[in-house]
Amino acid sequence: MNPSTPWWSSSVVYQVYPRSFADSDGDGYGDVRGIIDHLDHIAGLGVDVVWLSPIFASPQDDNGYDIADYQAIDPMFGTLADVDELTEAVHARGMKLVMDLVVNHTSDEHAWFVESRDPASPKRDWYFWRPARDGFEPGTPGAEPTNWGSFFGGSGWAFDEASGEYYLHLFSRKQPDLNWENPEVRQAVYAMMRWWVDRGVDGFRMDVINLISKTHPLADGAVNPGDPYSFEIERVANGPRLVEFLEEMNREVGITEKRLFTVGEMVACDLEHAREYTAREHDRLGMVFTFEHVSLDHAGGKLTPIPLHLPDLKKNLARWQEGLAEDGWNSLYFENHDQPRSVSRFGDDSPEHRVASAKALATVLHLHQGTPYVYQGQEIGMTNAGFTRIDQYRDIEAVGLHRQALEAGVPEEQVLAGLGAMGRDNARTPMPWTPEGGFTTGTPWLPLNATTASVNVADDVADPDGVYAHYRRLIALRRELEVVRMGAFELLLPEDEKLWVFTRTLGDERLLVVANMSSHAARVPMAELPSIEDAELLVASVHPGTDLQTLAPWDARVYRLRA
Ligand code: NOJ
Repeated sequence: MNPSTPWWSSSVVYQVYPRSFADSDGDGYGDVRGIIDHLDHIAGLGVDVVWLSPIFASPQDDNGYDIADYQAIDPMFGTLADVDELTEAVHARGMKLVMDLVVNHTSDEHAWFVESRDPASPKRDWYFWRPARDGFEPGTPGAEPTNWGSFFGGSGWAFDEASGEYYLHLFSRKQPDLNWENPEVRQAVYAMMRWWVDRGVDGFRMDVINLISKTHPLADGAVNPGDPYSFEIERVANGPRLVEFLEEMNREVGITEKRLFTVGEMVACDLEHAREYTAREHDRLGMVFTFEHVSLDHAGGKLTPIPLHLPDLKKNLARWQEGLAEDGWNSLYFENHDQPRSVSRFGDDSPEHRVASAKALATVLHLHQGTPYVYQGQEIGMTNAGFTRIDQYRDIEAVGLHRQALEAGVPEEQVLAGLGAMGRDNARTPMPWTPEGGFTTGTPWLPLNATTASVNVADDVADPDGVYAHYRRLIALRRELEVVRMGAFELLLPEDEKLWVFTRTLGDERLLVVANMSSHAARVPMAELPSIEDAELLVASVHPGTDLQTLAPWDARVYRLRA
């Protein structure tokens, strides 16, 4: 590989959601020791990087994305010594450890915010404190400084009785936004990042990082009909100082110099933005997580899912492949702790098609160019949670959206159907290690997935045709073949509603990927594809013996074509 190519462009990342991974002490929550105990499951896949969702001290209002102390581990997850041991154990297996960096906001219980509640405090300006709207009595309806909404429902401003002012929180009221315009805030964040790097951490996944430079959150935004609040995302994302902040962070933490891994989670991030933030000639970010491809199957909001039109998904990924081919880098993901399970969402989670569709989805994703992410449970084809009542949900977003929708008169049935398809708790059910569960000896914080008896690690890993074995094969293929890592991408049959077909080409190496992304047999228009005469079949998710012309449901093939 070209020496200037960053190490992570040949990597595969595994995301651990610690509270749901493995509980070593029976309190019902996963913990760091549980991760250490199951590290071989992760390493066995062949991945190179382990990313942990937040494990820092937190009141857990948003499951740890509300941090009260960046340099302390929450007791529910363990101790700093446990984390040092985990870091060592990860490194001993030849992998790297990436931490979640949540610095658009802190918890309202962070010492910085507690101090800033005092209007005379030097930290007052570390957050966005504002008086009530002109002509309104502070704390009364409509007196919020602007009409900006919170992503979790309600106003984006919370009233503080003691000082008579409001603070901005784009997420929950326990997640006040930090004011990155203040240089002291930035230096405090960089110092904290350096502290983790010195402890052995290899990089950061940066939570909603393009919100740190805000455009106009402090002025009223446009409101959609029927909404009480504005969600004009362009007014808070990708602000005028974002690039400056990212470059400063890179410099101050030594990100490029120390070859640290970075991925920026970015709402409202289009291809142009991604290129600007990830182009190699700048020292900004390694890659970004866009939301474009995971926004194609719901209209307007999470509670209104619409059927996926396969060509939209294929063409979206293809556009990003081509768009970042020369300059920049792609992250490749279908799942994380905020998204529903892909086998339920884009595949077919019926007992008949679950395994094949999980493998087909893995095949197409891992044969794209970029850094693939595997979210815990995806490697065994876990399905959505199957919750049907609001009391089964724990997620602050689900509870907030449910309340807001009922208040707006939406029938509860419809709200529950929306959450059942799109809610974040779908991906947060405890990791099913055995048919009985095996996650905890106590009561799990979130109910186990109803499918645990048939979808669990023990059974899947023991099956040579299981989903885990398929992931291992795909990850090994990326390591073996440069064309998987670096080959040019070309989408074929873009409008086909069942088949996902593309080639990857590097010099005279050429791969053809043909996948039937449906639960019905599909005819492949052979004449429109490169010839597979004498081609070597590298991967097949269903029936390696049959010919390509009629592809079984969810069969995904990778051929190496004759030069
Ligand atoms: C994105 C995280 O992935 C999500 O879980 C969290 O709720 C928000 N950012 C706020 O931190």
